[in-house]
Amino acid sequence: MRWLRPFRTLRRELSPTTPREASDAVVRNLMLHAFPARATKRALAWGTTGWLGTVTLGFFLVLCATGGVLLLLYVPSVERAYASMKDLESVVVFGSWLRGTHRAAAHLMVVAVVLHLVRVFLTGAYKKEGAPGAFRPLNWLVGIGLLVVTLGLSFTGYLLPWDQLAYWAVTVGTRIAASVPLVGEQARHLLLGGSSIGQPTLTRFYALHCFVLPAATLLLTFWHLWRVRKDGGLAASDRVVDDAIEKARHAPAAAGKSYTLLGTTAGGTVSTRSPAPLLHEATSFAVPNLVRRAMLVLLATLALSSLLGLVSAAPLEQAADPERTPNPAKAPWYFLWLQELVSILSFEVGGRVLDGAFLGGIVVPGLLLGLLAAWPWLDRSPREAAGLWFHPARRVQCRVFLALLLVVVALGVVGTFFRGPYWAWTSPFAPTLPVPTRV
Ligand code: HEM
Repeated sequence: MRWLRPFRTLRRELSPTTPREASDAVVRNLMLHAFPARATKRALAWGTTGWLGTVTLGFFLVLCATGGVLLLLYVPSVERAYASMKDLESVVVFGSWLRGTHRAAAHLMVVAVVLHLVRVFLTGAYKKEGAPGAFRPLNWLVGIGLLVVTLGLSFTGYLLPWDQLAYWAVTVGTRIAASVPLVGEQARHLLLGGSSIGQPTLTRFYALHCFVLPAATLLLTFWHLWRVRKDGGLAASDRVVDDAIEKARHAPAAAGKSYTLLGTTAGGTVSTRSPAPLLHEATSFAVPNLVRRAMLVLLATLALSSLLGLVSAAPLEQAADPERTPNPAKAPWYFLWLQELVSILSFEVGGRVLDGAFLGGIVVPGLLLGLLAAWPWLDRSPREAAGLWFHPARRVQCRVFLALLLVVVALGVVGTFFRGPYWAWTSPFAPTLPVPTRV
């Protein structure tokens, strides 16, 4: 039947039976066009990258799919936002699961993007390579843009349920921004649309969360993946190519073609050394090998987030009340290391209380982000150090990076589990007694 033909073609493209069909698939199919014809077996191995970039992309796709449905049910008004969340929890069929899945994917995307960054750093995969058109530091910068946009997506989504948790987490988060000298207050005013959180804030956060930031993430992701192709694939694959060239250089030359003058004279035989057979050996067709693994990873992200959405419902506290400040009021979990840092850097000297908000909330994270962005230009290790985990030439920088990461995680753990009312030390197992709210 003629109408079945596109489906048969698709099946053949995804399960090619001959090398010809496999290499044709990437040219014929628009979606498969993003893949190279062949990929190195090392790039496909699970341990090379953990597929963490694809995992991040998977969570983003889950967010777009579930967010698209939530968009139809949510009302972005201060009077009705909380009620629409309540409806979602108790009236809408599968509403609670949908919200739980969206929430789980949002948290997991933040975790995955950080792990992906850590993998790229520890394998030195941001390093400049010699291939024509390759410039991996640019993709590292695009990645940093993606990290910032991911955090922005998560932060703006926090406010939308309009419950106490949302309201005060965003209040704490934006108070840190206000501590920048000269422009801080204006920046906070611009973000909130006033001096405190209200309808203009909800409208702004809704627009940013549902349209501006997803569009920015999508565009940056296209650019990011296109750069991976332009940079000649993953950095780990460069080592495979280098190894093949090096081995071919030292291998005995193989007898190639014999040239004669139209068969009238005996010609010489040209002996050649070529890495091509070794490269053929070290690579495999992207279709179906790479495509199947990518599909598997994407399905796993969908399965994990929907399972988590099923077993742990997204929290919904009481409706936002600007008059009742919870004690303690905590920022979203990924900013808690900053809140802890701000508290450590706020101390009393000579009767005067030093406010650590600017130093801990702006200067330290700003310096860390700047250092991260500049790192490809500061890293002077040889190009061979790119694409390999903990290469000896990069061992010290990997250790320093991991030590800094550990400090950030430790601060986050303290802020999450060991800080109670008035930001005093507490035990995660201490009973939660009613504490006076701050006004
Ligand atoms: C929404 C966020 C992101 C998405 C969807 C994403 C996606 C991807 C994907 C699919 C790859 C191919 C390899 C793999 O699966 O690991 C990749 C590679 C890469 N990513 Fe990301 N990424 C994101 C964020 C970042 C961040 C935050 C950085 C670093 C600051 C970064 C830097 C890189 C670099 C340098 C490569 C090339 C790695 C190599 O050659 O081995 N990415 N990314």
